[in-house]
Amino acid sequence: MEKKLLFAVDDDPNQRRILSVLLETRGYEVMGLGGGEKCLEILDENPVAVFLDLMMPGIGGMETLKAIKKFREDLPVIMVTSVNEAETAVQALKLGAFDYIVKPFDEARLMATLENALQQKALRNQVRHLQGELQELHGLHGFIGRSPAMQKVFEKINKVKDNKASILIQGESGTGKELVARAIHYNGRFAKGCFVDINCGAIPENLQESELFGHKKGAFTGAEESRTGKLELADGGTLFLDEVGEMSPSLQTKLLRFLQEKTFQRVGENNNITVNTRVIAATNKDLNKEVAKGTFREDLYYRLAVYPIVVPPLRDRKEDIPLLCAHFLKKHEGEFSQKVKSIHPDAMKLLFSYPWPGNVRQLENTIYRAMINAETDCIGRDSLLEAGGNPEDGSGANEKKADSGDKIDRIGFDSECVPEKIIPFQEIEKRTLANAIKVTNGNIPQAAQQLGLSRSTLYRLVKKYGLR
Ligand SMILES: Nc1ncnc2c1ncn2[C@@H]1O[C@H](COP(=O)(O)OP(=O)(O)OP(=O)(O)O)[C@@H](O)[C@H]1O
Ligand SMILES: [Mg+2]
Repeated sequence: MEKKLLFAVDDDPNQRRILSVLLETRGYEVMGLGGGEKCLEILDENPVAVFLDLMMPGIGGMETLKAIKKFREDLPVIMVTSVNEAETAVQALKLGAFDYIVKPFDEARLMATLENALQQKALRNQVRHLQGELQELHGLHGFIGRSPAMQKVFEKINKVKDNKASILIQGESGTGKELVARAIHYNGRFAKGCFVDINCGAIPENLQESELFGHKKGAFTGAEESRTGKLELADGGTLFLDEVGEMSPSLQTKLLRFLQEKTFQRVGENNNITVNTRVIAATNKDLNKEVAKGTFREDLYYRLAVYPIVVPPLRDRKEDIPLLCAHFLKKHEGEFSQKVKSIHPDAMKLLFSYPWPGNVRQLENTIYRAMINAETDCIGRDSLLEAGGNPEDGSGANEKKADSGDKIDRIGFDSECVPEKIIPFQEIEKRTLANAIKVTNGNIPQAAQQLGLSRSTLYRLVKKYGLR
């Protein structure tokens, strides 16, 4: 394994030698350098850390430090000082030195300082790498939408991403509200902090406050430890309040106070805490209606909706369907031994004719199931029909049943399908048959042929279900 290179910069050859011996016995490669000029000259050698004497002829330790930080900000520099230079050493820390060690060296302290410096550098690189990956994952890559309606949403994301203003994202279930929230966070200046989400609908009312603001040990029964709230965890980043329409009235009041005054108190504590957290809220409820009903505070609504974004339902941007399908085929292809590469035009027609009450989430689930059903590398109408209408499609309870247009292709995609309700197979069979008879104007041989059944079977089923 290649040894890690260190620079030992000191005008005193004895000190250079002592440092070199100490560090080389620990497995490092050490270059002893007589002054700051030489150090800067060969910075390209890529040392992992620099030991830098403070008092040297020529440009001196401080100037060398400044120059190193200018060219290689993340290179750890450990200052080497004598006892009476402590004040200058503190100055050096302010200029970005990692730490200082005092001559004569204490070997254990020297090694601990070096190891800490290298560890911190590694962690910083890792964080940078992960931030890059997160941005890749949650940025606008993988966020599909060519339709003018989605282009408008992207424009809004770009406009608001660096802004501190609260954002309210509204849209039906499965339209991509969380995706919008993440894209805003990971593309903007708050990406340096964390994206912390809290689902107001999933937390019991009595715990919502402590979840958001944190609590002191013993603040209430069951509070055995002090706990930091999500608002604080998201300091410098984004707090995503999902299903904000489900927030309890008392918490609404406290959240409003935070948004107005920028400070809050943990449950059971009196001191004010200030954080720099940007708030993004989302809901699939019509908050205006909730305000009218008196279940959501009007003042809070206006505070949250400083910048509103509405994510349109999929039925209003059907031109996005082919692109979304291609995206989902690619996204899931690794899970199947047989690659499914395309969708047959007949199946695509079906996808266009369906109103998608569960929006993009339902489309994704349907494509996924159709990939399971597909017998070739192309999703045909049949695999799609088999995949359609599953109650697990995630369509929320409050969306409109849209689009009463072309009913012909709705077999198994029945828009009457009530979310969360399981449809018995017999019911699906009955609807499929009824539809086939309707489409063929009662021509049983033709219906049987299209259904892939023998005539006698179809006659039997027609009789069983009383379809004529
Ligand atoms: N434009 C899009 N491009 C790619 N994938 C999308 C898009 N919109 C939504 N999805 C996918 O659909 C699913 C649902 O999206 P998301 O969770 O953001 O919806 P939501 O509006 O928050 O839904 P809910 O109200 O039910 O919480 C996710 O798997 C998401 O990746
Ligand atoms: Mg969501």
